[in-house]
Amino acid sequence: MAVQKPFFPLLFKCLLTTCYLLVQCFGSSNAVGGVGQGKLGKWQLLLNNTGVVAMHMALTLQNTVLIFDQTSSGPSGYTLHRSSDGRRCLGLPRSMTDPDCSAHSVEYHIGRNSVRPLRLQTDTWCSSGSILSDGTLLQTGGYGDGYRRIRYFKPCSDRRCDWNESSDSLMDNRWYASNMLLPENDSTIVMGGLRTYTYEFIPKRSSSGRSFYLPFLHQTNDRDQHGNNLYPFLHLSADGNLFIFANRDSILFNYKNNTVLKTFPRIPGSGSRNYPSSGSSVILPLDYTNRYQKVEVMVCGGSTTGAYRAARRRNFLTGLSSCGRMVITGKIHRWKMEEMPGPRLLNDMLILPTGQILIINGAKEGSAGWNNAASPSLQPYLYEPTKPSGKRFSVLSSTNIPRMYHSSAILLPDGRVLVAGSNPNNRYTFRNVSYPTELRLQAYVPYYMSESNNRYRPQNVSVQYAKHGLNVVPYNEDFTVTFFLGRRPNNLVEFNVYSPPFATHAFSMNQRMLKLRSTGLVRENNGWFSAVVKAPPTPTVAPSGYYMLTVLNGGIPSTSTWVNFIHT
Ligand SMILES: *[C@@H]1O[C@H](CO)[C@@H](O)[C@H](O)[C@H]1NC(C)=O
Ligand SMILES: *[C@@H]1O[C@H](CO)[C@@H](O)[C@H](O)[C@H]1NC(C)=O
Ligand SMILES: *[C@@H]1O[C@H](CO)[C@@H](O)[C@H](O)[C@H]1NC(C)=O
Ligand SMILES: *[C@@H]1O[C@H](CO)[C@@H](O)[C@H](O)[C@H]1NC(C)=O
Ligand SMILES: *[C@@H]1O[C@H](CO)[C@@H](O)[C@H](O)[C@H]1NC(C)=O
Ligand SMILES: *[C@@H]1O[C@H](CO)[C@@H](O)[C@H](O)[C@H]1NC(C)=O
Repeated sequence: MAVQKPFFPLLFKCLLTTCYLLVQCFGSSNAVGGVGQGKLGKWQLLLNNTGVVAMHMALTLQNTVLIFDQTSSGPSGYTLHRSSDGRRCLGLPRSMTDPDCSAHSVEYHIGRNSVRPLRLQTDTWCSSGSILSDGTLLQTGGYGDGYRRIRYFKPCSDRRCDWNESSDSLMDNRWYASNMLLPENDSTIVMGGLRTYTYEFIPKRSSSGRSFYLPFLHQTNDRDQHGNNLYPFLHLSADGNLFIFANRDSILFNYKNNTVLKTFPRIPGSGSRNYPSSGSSVILPLDYTNRYQKVEVMVCGGSTTGAYRAARRRNFLTGLSSCGRMVITGKIHRWKMEEMPGPRLLNDMLILPTGQILIINGAKEGSAGWNNAASPSLQPYLYEPTKPSGKRFSVLSSTNIPRMYHSSAILLPDGRVLVAGSNPNNRYTFRNVSYPTELRLQAYVPYYMSESNNRYRPQNVSVQYAKHGLNVVPYNEDFTVTFFLGRRPNNLVEFNVYSPPFATHAFSMNQRMLKLRSTGLVRENNGWFSAVVKAPPTPTVAPSGYYMLTVLNGGIPSTSTWVNFIHT
């Protein structure tokens, strides 16, 4: 093991001078490898047919991706040999008319670049999810027979696991609800839904046997426009309270005693941000330098006022191009507004391993809903939160595949972004429509993955914490991260952890990044390095579970490795 080898201490201070000079020479304050290069990135076509529409996606700790649609959309692009009740599917003509004879969920294996079918028993249409501390996906709600369902998917390495429906059910119908994993052991809050102005917990917390009414969900509901407050944006603040954004308004909410602690100012400008206006939102990376106590949220895009009704008449109104950023901790709260390079809705927002924000997928006009949008947004945007205002956005390489309603995107451990889905038609429709059902699977490959950056990229990253097995680390403990670099590191070596989200309808539930504190970067033999990194202090700052740990050298990220933060 590298750690035991004799080593030569190599202090940051010594390096600082050299690197400072280097940086001066190249005129860049960061990202050695990024010098003189664009940040355009590129696109890869991975598969021509995933079989099912990626209405929902989630990465598992087995480095696979769950992809699933609704079950009520008729036959999919993945024909099965047997239906869920064991009947033989009698060849193509029959399967074409028998939805039971096609898959509505698949598991994509990143390494093999292939999918296998999974079986859903009830309708997951516009449902929600969160990943529990052991890596199991908790998946809730849907439509019809799925309104109140609770499902689990426990990832496995033998490719035999499948969906498991709980005999327990939700208290209310949850169609277009949002989930958030809470700091208390594996407790999830499930919030809202169409005409559902309540929240509830899994496992149940209510002594009355009923869900909890939240007037805010009622007040923000725009009846004329199919809600405009569905799939509320939820973020867990560092004080353990829940930030809830719906339509244009937001509150800080103590879910333990059902109390609204703060009502934040309304986001400036017209239009709405939540479904069916379907902008997006992230919590910006939390940072050890302020003990993770400064929490800032960001909301981007959405539809203009009246867009949903107008789209029903095939009048597609231009979407919102504004973003707002607001610090939700402390005492002063003000939205700082910025303009994206263009209007955008149905846009996914992902935190890249670098801490930059990627805005990808979606359209420029209309709203969410069947055939409600036009003018696909083919170019992702990069947003660099720490740059000066006005210099944060850039426009990235264009794809040629529209990713409209019911598309999604997630970050992969290697740093690529998986992009799938799009189906504004309520059946799988491949011809004679403006935006056909899209089953092609792509990866967007960000600039930091370019070959010219390979020499700066930390490799073979691993986590050691002897007491609890290799990658299992209790809160607030120091653990060792080793990696290979084969050259002198940049002055800035960083350690970021990321909780893999559940992505649907432009919102990535439970997405979170923390920039961890590290001390004592030590150079060992033959290009190996080790650093002591401190786990997050509490589950309030980072709920227990599996995180993707990335080592960055001068802004160039390694492939991520899994680290499991646990209660002891
Ligand atoms: C997808 O289909 C096109 C056209 O048939 C083919 O050229 C391409 O190689 C296929 N790509 C993959 C990843 O299967
Ligand atoms: C489903 O979950 C239940 C309860 O956790 C478990 O007993 C059962 O074995 C699971 N079934 C499958 C098929 O995984
Ligand atoms: C979490 O679970 C552990 C073990 O089951 C228990 O000891 C601990 O008290 C629980 N913590 C909370 C906040 O419920
Ligand atoms: C809820 O808890 C918070 C924080 O503990 C407290 O400030 C507030 O007064 C409580 N509200 C009610 C109604 O109990
Ligand atoms: C294509 O769509 C148009 C308008 O919806 C319809 O009139 C026409 O019959 C369709 N053609 C085919 C071949 O389905
Ligand atoms: C890093 O890991 C790869 C594959 O796991 C291996 O081929 C390579 O030799 C390792 N690099 C070093 C420097 O050990």
